[in-house]
Amino acid sequence: MKTARQLVEELRRELAEHAHRYYVLDQPTISDAEYDRLFAELSRLEADHPDLASADSPTQRVGGAPRAGFRQVPHTHPMVSLANVFDVDGVREFDLRVKRMLGQGAEAAIDYAVEPKIDGLGIELTYEDSVLRLASTRGDGSTGEDVTANAKAIKAIPLRLRQRVPGAFEVRGEVYLPKAAFAALNRDREEAGEEGFANPRNAAAGSLRQLDPAVTAARPLRVLLYALSTTPVAPGLPATHLELMAWLKDLGLASPPTCRCHGIAEVIATDEEMKERRHRFPYDMDGVVVKVNDHRLQLELGMVSRAPRWAVAFKLPPQEETTTVRGITVQVGRTGALTPVAELEPVTVGGATVSRATLHNADEVARKDVRVADRVLVRRAGEVIPEVVAVVKEARPEDSVPFVFPTRCPECGAAVVREDGEAVSRCPNRRCPAQVRERIRHFATRKAMDIDGLGDKLVEKLVATERVTGVADLFRLGKEDLLALEGIADKSAEKLLVAINAAKERPLARLLFALGIRHVGEQVAKLLANHFGSLATLSQATVEELAAVHGIGAEVAAAVAAFFASDDGRATLAGLDRVGVRAAPAKAVPVTNGKLAGMTVVVTGTLRSMSRDQAQERIALEGGRAAAAVSKKTDLLVAGEAAGSKLQKAEQLGIKIVDEAGFLSLLEGGAK
Ligand code: IVH
Repeated sequence: MKTARQLVEELRRELAEHAHRYYVLDQPTISDAEYDRLFAELSRLEADHPDLASADSPTQRVGGAPRAGFRQVPHTHPMVSLANVFDVDGVREFDLRVKRMLGQGAEAAIDYAVEPKIDGLGIELTYEDSVLRLASTRGDGSTGEDVTANAKAIKAIPLRLRQRVPGAFEVRGEVYLPKAAFAALNRDREEAGEEGFANPRNAAAGSLRQLDPAVTAARPLRVLLYALSTTPVAPGLPATHLELMAWLKDLGLASPPTCRCHGIAEVIATDEEMKERRHRFPYDMDGVVVKVNDHRLQLELGMVSRAPRWAVAFKLPPQEETTTVRGITVQVGRTGALTPVAELEPVTVGGATVSRATLHNADEVARKDVRVADRVLVRRAGEVIPEVVAVVKEARPEDSVPFVFPTRCPECGAAVVREDGEAVSRCPNRRCPAQVRERIRHFATRKAMDIDGLGDKLVEKLVATERVTGVADLFRLGKEDLLALEGIADKSAEKLLVAINAAKERPLARLLFALGIRHVGEQVAKLLANHFGSLATLSQATVEELAAVHGIGAEVAAAVAAFFASDDGRATLAGLDRVGVRAAPAKAVPVTNGKLAGMTVVVTGTLRSMSRDQAQERIALEGGRAAAAVSKKTDLLVAGEAAGSKLQKAEQLGIKIVDEAGFLSLLEGGAK
């Protein structure tokens, strides 16, 4: 019989191995559910045997309570930055300078390493005798912030290196939020009535610099490591950058894809190729980094002020354009949040037409001092909502006046409130027609109660004529109510009433999501529904009981409890109960009208925004059948990263193939 100690050690080893396969090799061999099962087994054993506790156990990733602030930590070696160049001439000059300083002729060919410049957050990890002891941000380069507790919450950062490295080992890289995870996070935040992040970089920064490591843990942050704090040259250590990257992978540390280039012409070709393929990388990339490959040559070249002479960042042209602000409007969301929006003279940025850009909140408008008729710089970063970066002050008309943020709701006239420490101003009037409209609209959306035929225009009319003042009113509508509105025919009125009636039977998770409770996006709603089973049980749950649900944080728990305790929440639930909306217990129902209805779908490779299980669940929810192997019967192949033989086979068979982004847009409601 194995002792508890042996079992615990075995489980820890196994879990670390699976994390490595998932995060570093991109080749998971077990499902998320299986990983969770092993994890639960380890947690149980550790709880039964407190003497076996260990700081590098995966169960210790989210340990301590949130802290009051971050401790400042000096870096043993400054975290330098890179010199930038913006065109091929700049890269050629860099190459010539390198050769001149190394005493080589202009025609010599240097060995370079070329890799993406990841638009994330610089981080330093310090391992001592192979165990993670400290994680710090770049800070001002000399002193950073101690973010160890948060780094430990990031599953992609190993708590122990896979090989023994004696003494202190300081490794540097970039923490980032994968693009797909960023899109999902913003969707969830917007669904929950919160402000989205402007770009993946801000989202990553916001997630890493959290005083509560549980929040960091809930965001699927990744890390790529690309340097040591000093260039290694000792015998037995990697002699080149490429060797170093391979060694880091062996140690269990993910590193960026790096190409070896002989001579500057190869560098330029590789740069072009990488930039062309950049939308395929799971992270935002703001350029390409060119590094002298040989460590001895790196040392010989040394540093100037705060940048190495042996490396250069070849930046991408920014996705920015200038245009004119036609007006500034303020939108009211379903939680009452007021969002200022710049209405722009349409302009093409990075291939897409932009005619509106978010100004985020009152502070942002004031900080940037955006005014009507201003010329502004607009940026579109990847799949992100366009934003106004800055005003071209020199072009400002003389008679321009600063924008005054409304003190009253533009829709209902209620005095706007802004809570201490919040960036968002809100209309406090739950009956505000804009809020009601947005709530009803959300309630009816496909992922919520899925009421077919209840479009935006109709909702607007129903709310404006006060036929609907809350979600329960929808279920009281009669045919005459609908026919009284302009532009609705007999047949469609009947169809709509059938659709509304059918919504009474929606499962609990959908209803919870549909209620638009703050912080309750689709995923949270599912967790709550699965855990509590019924609306009655959930509405009685205490904050502690809510927070004890795996995946539910303190903030979410508080918001849910507050909703069920509020007069509004109670009135809404009582109203829904009266009209017969009882939330069916969650169970699988065959879907015949889903986006993938009747299709056989195979998922291969690694998806960034969801696990394999989640992908299969989504396929099933859309009426498709998830299959394991590609055959002639396959209708669609979803190819994630590092897709292999299944992708080849699908190509041979001429099966339709989509990448992760394509799959997401299919699920979102794009064309089949
Ligand atoms: S090398 C001495 N490689 O860019 C080595 N930096 O603008 C200096 N960055 O502070 C860094 N991707 O945070 C290096 N592949 C990469 C990088 C990278 C992103 C960041 C890093 C650095 C900043 C300089």
